[in-house]
Amino acid sequence: MSAPNPMRPYVGTLVDTKDLATNIRLFRIRIDDPEEHERFAVWKPGQFLFLSTLGYGEAPFGFANIPAFGPAVEVAIHNVGHVTSHIHMLPIGSKVGVRGPLGNCFPMDEVTGKDIVVLGGGIGGAPLRPVIQHIKAHRADYGHLTIFWAARSPDLLVFTDEYEEWQAMPDTEMHVTIDRPAEGWTGNVGLITEILEQIGPSPQNTVAITCGPPIMIHFVGLTLAKLGFTTDQMLATLEARMHCGIGKCGRCNVGEKLICRDGPVFWQSEIKEFLERAL
Ligand SMILES: Cc1cc2nc3c(=O)[nH]c(=O)nc-3n(C[C@H](O)[C@H](O)[C@H](O)COP(=O)(O)OP(=O)(O)OC[C@H]3O[C@@H](n4cnc5c(N)ncnc54)[C@H](O)[C@@H]3O)c2cc1C
Ligand code: FES
Repeated sequence: MSAPNPMRPYVGTLVDTKDLATNIRLFRIRIDDPEEHERFAVWKPGQFLFLSTLGYGEAPFGFANIPAFGPAVEVAIHNVGHVTSHIHMLPIGSKVGVRGPLGNCFPMDEVTGKDIVVLGGGIGGAPLRPVIQHIKAHRADYGHLTIFWAARSPDLLVFTDEYEEWQAMPDTEMHVTIDRPAEGWTGNVGLITEILEQIGPSPQNTVAITCGPPIMIHFVGLTLAKLGFTTDQMLATLEARMHCGIGKCGRCNVGEKLICRDGPVFWQSEIKEFLERAL
């Protein structure tokens, strides 16, 4: 059988939605043809898909779950513009197009036996949820897990109803912080870099995985370096405006590399200059 055309979207149905935070909603999509769903349901933590709605276009989103954690594809979408605002208005049962899985993934096999530090900022937490789910499903393969979870304000924290479950995982700690004090908030206040420095996870046999805007990745990288991490112990996922998503149009380049083809997951050593330019 010939390989499926990567530009042809599968037809899927929106089966469920859930509000996660202000203007951020989780969408559960089932690909209509069971054979196509099975072919699609091999995505790995860190990969992404293109979601399209007829008449509005398509946009890339990171997978927010792993296939083992539910039969549907899950994506957490921040309503920021043309396509995302339309997706936010779709009623359950709407038909959507799904293209993927695309891009590389977090090298979860390469980092077995290591302690893992996960750092998510705002909607950037969404592509890290599959990492946490993967570690949960293969708990004995990884060492200590430290989760740093941040947002500008409490109403922008995603997956709040899962924190208890994550913290209850063996050998796991979680630190949640918001940037500025907010009424009714009794948890940590301060940037993710501050709490990271304060907790100070050891770099020994550890890999840090960060997802958020480039400025956050950059400053988290500097703090990790202060703690003794090298850029070969830091993984991050990048975002860019994309068209094709399959390395053909050249829209998403970072120097010689294309985020859609060579990423979106990179070792920080590969993207250091890009992050410095993005400041
Ligand atoms: C690999 C990858 C994974 C992503 N994962 C997620 C995710 O899990 N959840 C999520 O909500 N979003 C994610 N995004 C970002 C998402 O693709 C954009 O928010 C979306 O394309 C905006 O489309 P729009 O038509 O609604 O916005 P537009 O109307 O096109 O633009 C609205 C605003 O958003 C800005 N913008 C648009 N696209 C991007 C982008 N890629 N990066 C930064 N700013 C952008 C524009 O400059 C503009 O200011 C991801 C992007 C990539 C490349
Ligand atoms: S989006 Fe076309 S090359 Fe990456």
